[in-house]
Amino acid sequence: MSQGRTIVVGITGGIAAYKAVNIVRAFVLLGDSVHVVATPAALRFVGRPTLEAISRNPVHTDLYEGVAEVRHVAIGQSADLIVVAPATANTIAKLAAGLADDLLGNTILASTAPLVIAPAMHTEMWNNPATVHNVQTLRNRGVIVVGPGVGRLTGSDSGAGRMEEPDVIVAAALAALHPGTPARDLSGRRIVITAGGTREPLDPVRFLGNRSSGKQGVRLAEAATARGASVVLIAANLEIPVPAGIETRLVGTALELQSAVTDAAAGADAVIMAAAVADYRPATVRGDKIKKDDEGDTLTLELVRNPDILAGLAAAKTTGQLVIGFAAETEADPDRLLSLGREKLARKGCDYLVLNRVGWTEGFAAERNEVRILDSAGVIVAEAAGTKMSVAGRILDVVVAGLG
Ligand code: CTP
Repeated sequence: MSQGRTIVVGITGGIAAYKAVNIVRAFVLLGDSVHVVATPAALRFVGRPTLEAISRNPVHTDLYEGVAEVRHVAIGQSADLIVVAPATANTIAKLAAGLADDLLGNTILASTAPLVIAPAMHTEMWNNPATVHNVQTLRNRGVIVVGPGVGRLTGSDSGAGRMEEPDVIVAAALAALHPGTPARDLSGRRIVITAGGTREPLDPVRFLGNRSSGKQGVRLAEAATARGASVVLIAANLEIPVPAGIETRLVGTALELQSAVTDAAAGADAVIMAAAVADYRPATVRGDKIKKDDEGDTLTLELVRNPDILAGLAAAKTTGQLVIGFAAETEADPDRLLSLGREKLARKGCDYLVLNRVGWTEGFAAERNEVRILDSAGVIVAEAAGTKMSVAGRILDVVVAGLG
């Protein structure tokens, strides 16, 4: 699927540079011709051979190489899009000032292509008035700023400043290539999205949980926000950073999730239950740690059923509200998988069901997903395979059509 596009990926000197490799790879897989312009500092974090092998092109760093072909102008002029990821505070300051003291700065100044930057730095640097001002200057100039996310930083600290995930950056970059998209077709809509997996405590140190990372739900929240929706994200034990700028309610157990989602669903246009909810919880939660010497060689846990939150939301939904469920099944046979999906749909009574197969290696925490979307009659209305961001887009297309 060659797009015939030339994408310049600028990589600057931050630890997140290693993640830029996945951005380069994503564009190569899309059929783009990718040219990496790395600062010398970036190459201290990620090796030139890696970037050359993945981009399938030489990596340029030096302004004084290829002078005869006026390389900085040539690369800048050929670019259909420039993505700088990670963009350090220093690079952002230089871009805001229009400085051109390295190949990347020259390339950007010589280009009229859309510029997308993904900042990455410590929270203090991100919040510093100088950086805030520089980022605003760039935004005013039409530069698209993706992230940063909130989450674990390089050291033991966490906060705003973590580079956005590569698939989110690529999605934003692709949208920048086609101004006007993503459509703001969820403008004025309120969407509640649950993400992650519930944890049911056994004692102060242990819980029954599941392997949901929350990635698909978070991508839905990001994509819906980009399309203009006002989103409430109900986050159960996410393994990925909570996105900055999205109203988020943190929950732990199924009962907490039920209370938060029921509350948020009032007045919402759509509720998307992407979270993996524990069907059972321990009948009693021990006040002290369970000790094996008190239990002997076997330990029997008594579990009680959790409410079916999705079925409850579907039964209580208001006119015009859409309730969308997910079905995670381990069935390998596609036809039997579909039958299980249809049975689940009938049991839950929701408007749409997103059916995906999960297993030891599929589904959870993966970057990609493959789903079929069934309507309330069990008819497949959409299918999607790709990054969780692109799957999120397809699910939202169905929501937009369903809201009418
Ligand atoms: N769900 C829910 N409440 C539960 C269990 C699941 O709301 N107690 C929701 C999930 O958020 C998901 C959908 O129901 O949207 C299907 O979840 P899944 O785990 O696939 O199905 P289960 O209801 O657990 O059915 P089964 O045990 O038969 O797989």
